[in-house]
Amino acid sequence: MSITAASNREAIRAEPVGSEAAVRIASLQKSYGAIEAIRKVSFAVGEGEFVSVLGPSGCGKSTLLMMIAGVIAPTAGEIRVKDAKVTGPRRDVGVVFQSPVLLPWRTVLQNVLFPVELMRLPRAQYTGRAMELLRMAKIDEFAAALPRQLSGGMRQRVAICRALVHNPDILLMDEPFSALDAITRDEMGVELLRIWQANRKTVIFVTHSIREAAFLSDRVLVMARRPGTIIDDVAIDLPRPRQIAMTEDETFNHHVRHLRNAIEASHAG
Ligand SMILES: Nc1ncnc2c1ncn2[C@@H]1O[C@H](COP(=O)(O)OP(=O)(O)O)[C@@H](O)[C@H]1O
Ligand SMILES: [Mg+2]
Repeated sequence: MSITAASNREAIRAEPVGSEAAVRIASLQKSYGAIEAIRKVSFAVGEGEFVSVLGPSGCGKSTLLMMIAGVIAPTAGEIRVKDAKVTGPRRDVGVVFQSPVLLPWRTVLQNVLFPVELMRLPRAQYTGRAMELLRMAKIDEFAAALPRQLSGGMRQRVAICRALVHNPDILLMDEPFSALDAITRDEMGVELLRIWQANRKTVIFVTHSIREAAFLSDRVLVMARRPGTIIDDVAIDLPRPRQIAMTEDETFNHHVRHLRNAIEASHAG
């Protein structure tokens, strides 16, 4: 219990590595009636940083992410994106959900262009960018296909392209690869990092996988449940670009052990 409390204070003080904050969260709370989903969460994410929020199912990860997205309102506390208080969805924030939710009657390209239509941006101008993203995600050959013709991994790639099409500075991802098999999942992680490095986005990535968090991130925020709060903030000092082979390294496994211990300590407490 004392370990948990001490590392929580660390997390609250923690500042992003590098430049100014893209996202800053202060004393955030969320209750659903009598259920306290998020208690006193504070952290900042630097511009261009890749930060994971790691925690067990039900600890409040989706609640946290959807508040940052401006989709649900906090009970108390504040979220600032680029120093402006979040009061609703923002054009410069893209979201990727756990299941890809593509429109089944639209082609891959039409799905990617859907936010462009919603935001009433000039479609012709964005078609080239959409195709470029599909190329980057290695699914450009399927631009004219319907979602049901694609595998789960391919559909999730389409959803990532859709979230990036209007060029948001910040990408929020809620367990985007959790429905995929382990091998596809590793490949998707590498692909995501490639797209991230080419586009220089700030990413907040929610996951319950310790290995996934350690492999992808610059920093991992560890969440514990009842009530949902951040108990640790771990910098992952692995070089980039990351390669699957690095998961064999002692440094990687050291981080994995540290993260696992943090989660286990929170359960014991
Ligand atoms: N709309 C809602 N109404 C009531 N309770 C909710 C709602 N959404 C989430 N919860 C509860 O809040 C807690 C956190 O949920 P969630 O944010 O989905 O966690 P996670 O994404 O980490 O699995 C859980 O106890 C969940 O049952
Ligand atoms: Mg969730």
